[in-house]
Amino acid sequence: MKLNIAILPGDGIGPEIITQAKSVLNTIAQKFGHDFNYKEALVGAIAIEKTGNPLPDETIKICEETDAILFGAIGDPKYDNNPNAKVRPEDGLLKLRKTLELHTNVRPIKVYNSLLEKSPLKKDRIVGSDFIIYRELTGGIYFGEKKLSADGTVASDHCSYSIEEITKVSTLAFEAAQKRRKKLTLVDKANVLETSRLWRKVVKKMNEKYPDVEVNFLFVDNAAMQLILNPKQFDIILTENLFGDILSDESSVIVGSIGLLASASLGTKNALFEPIHGSFPEGAGKNIANPIGTILSAAMLLEHFNLSKEAALVNEAIQNAIETNKVTPDIFPNSTFGTTDVGKIICEYISKN
Ligand code: IPM
Ligand code: MN
Repeated sequence: MKLNIAILPGDGIGPEIITQAKSVLNTIAQKFGHDFNYKEALVGAIAIEKTGNPLPDETIKICEETDAILFGAIGDPKYDNNPNAKVRPEDGLLKLRKTLELHTNVRPIKVYNSLLEKSPLKKDRIVGSDFIIYRELTGGIYFGEKKLSADGTVASDHCSYSIEEITKVSTLAFEAAQKRRKKLTLVDKANVLETSRLWRKVVKKMNEKYPDVEVNFLFVDNAAMQLILNPKQFDIILTENLFGDILSDESSVIVGSIGLLASASLGTKNALFEPIHGSFPEGAGKNIANPIGTILSAAMLLEHFNLSKEAALVNEAIQNAIETNKVTPDIFPNSTFGTTDVGKIICEYISKN
């Protein structure tokens, strides 16, 4: 298969982890006779530094012209600690999601048996946890009108959802549930928010079209608690943008490290694949960043194009690295394996198996 892939390394550890994911894709291409072509583009703080814009037009153009995008990480403490910053690296990612209409973010959470001890949660609670968060990605409070009063004393962020927006992400979530354990949990705050009440109405109505899927509803505060009390109860979690952002970071605690989690952002025309973690600036340039979240995202990219055998082999190679303790220090603090070592071990496994 021929695929044109946009590579957006971004900030902090982004370039290091992307390099490893690209090596994995190249190893797959070589083994299975695919033709993967890459085009690198700027995004985030590095793009601000070089062009003044966190998402230059050139980057949008490259993303629109390619089949898929592999994204590293975004963010720089220089902007986080400056409430007056006029532009922010994160604006680049948000604008990219919006421009490409990537309305659905898919975040799989699955424990590795050999890492059960790594989670601060009790083993018997988390063993067997396997669920996917379907997070709405281009609406809600993230994209509503933002205001700051002239005297700087009052600020607001508007949250709105349309039936159309809710339907897009819910359709993909229902379809995923049908292929799995057929259980969908809508997480909302319908006891307080009007948007949440609309979500409930739409999802209830859609359930008539997917009668084999059992739908239940959970308020987000309770969901935050249930996720660590009994994560095994979940199959598909469907939720709005902000709740999905928060709950996916929380869920990474179940797996043992946020460095292990991948995601796919899906739209009608395009798809973007990125780890869920941030740019970990303290770790940049030290060869300690966990490349697995990005490599798993590359596996999701392969799966997206129905390259299932290829994706399965990448997953197997990751499983092997984890089971043989060839992992970065975020998992085993005394580990001597760096970002490049883990990437190399995964590539070697793919070549040999
Ligand atoms: C994520 C990130 C982004 C988000 C930031 C970087 C804007 O936290 O992908 O989860 O909040 O969506
Ligand atoms: Mn996040």
